[in-house]
Amino acid sequence: TTPSLKRTFQNDFMIGAALNTQQIMERDTNASRLVAQQFNAVTPENVMKAMIIHPQWNTYNFEWADKLIEYGKKNNLQINGHTLIWHSQMPAFARRLQSTDSFRLFFTDHITTVASRYRDKVYSWDVVNEALNEDGTMRRSPFFTKLGEDYVTEAFRLTQAAAPNTQLYYNDYNNERPAKRAGCIALINKIKAAGVRIDGVGIQGHWQVGKVPLKDIEESILQYSALGLKLAFTELDIEVLPRNFQGADVGQRMKADPSLNPYTSGLPDDVQQQLASDYEALFQLFLKHRDKIERVTFWGVNDGASWLNDWPVRGRTNYPLLFDRAFNPKPAFYKVIATR
Ligand code: XIL
Repeated sequence: TTPSLKRTFQNDFMIGAALNTQQIMERDTNASRLVAQQFNAVTPENVMKAMIIHPQWNTYNFEWADKLIEYGKKNNLQINGHTLIWHSQMPAFARRLQSTDSFRLFFTDHITTVASRYRDKVYSWDVVNEALNEDGTMRRSPFFTKLGEDYVTEAFRLTQAAAPNTQLYYNDYNNERPAKRAGCIALINKIKAAGVRIDGVGIQGHWQVGKVPLKDIEESILQYSALGLKLAFTELDIEVLPRNFQGADVGQRMKADPSLNPYTSGLPDDVQQQLASDYEALFQLFLKHRDKIERVTFWGVNDGASWLNDWPVRGRTNYPLLFDRAFNPKPAFYKVIATR
């Protein structure tokens, strides 16, 4: 029989997966079976984002998020709420709000309504997502522009008031890189200096094959935990890029030249092995710091469900996870299991 991730790492950290709407509604039995076997935590990939849960002024759509709660309860899964405040996937009505007062009303009402509804039902919240630029300065999002930089602290304060027993996380990508990490630490210190609680920091972990920044990750685990925070790897995937692919503008280049995505019918063996050894090295590092790491969540159940098939260009074929399109474990899965 196939080994199980959640059992393998049961004394180390939680093992999660992001679920899409289809999977939450249990319309994908292969995914449900794999989730039950392999994972003990789930994050909603989209259904708790403002665009979906709060589509209109004074109108909430809790149907799918409620279903996730029910699914989690039934299957004994920790639920990690994602996310209350994020500049992306905002509802159109909120993007159109002009006055500071009405924007603040949206901000306050959104956090209070969503956090209090799921009080004692979600284990953690990504209270604020992606507030930082790569150089560590604050992103000029609508939240920053309209409410000023204290909006982050305010979001934590409001969530704490609405859901006092929930773990409160700040979440971002590339916040393992030195410049962004320094900005992240400064942000965390501001929240604490205001006397507001923050429990953890989420490193999303969208990395690339052959380029997983192990040294930055280890340094980040040490620096963030030195602040007294818990660490979670919240959106782990390792995307497969063509050999010799350099540069950050993956999307633009693939649009211009679709042949840059050569692995449409499967991974060559050497790339498959590289992916496996990247995952192996990563989990060796996680195990080394298991006392500091609360959770490792994959951004998707299997390759077929990964957002990276559609981002940054639609119709890519990607292979970033531990289970393939037929829901079978990949070589990377067995390497990960063997680290324990
Ligand atoms: C992605 C989802 O996976 C997609 O389905 C959606 O279309 C866009 O958002 N960082 C985050 C996640 O914090 O919420 C994003 O999820 C991926 C990047």
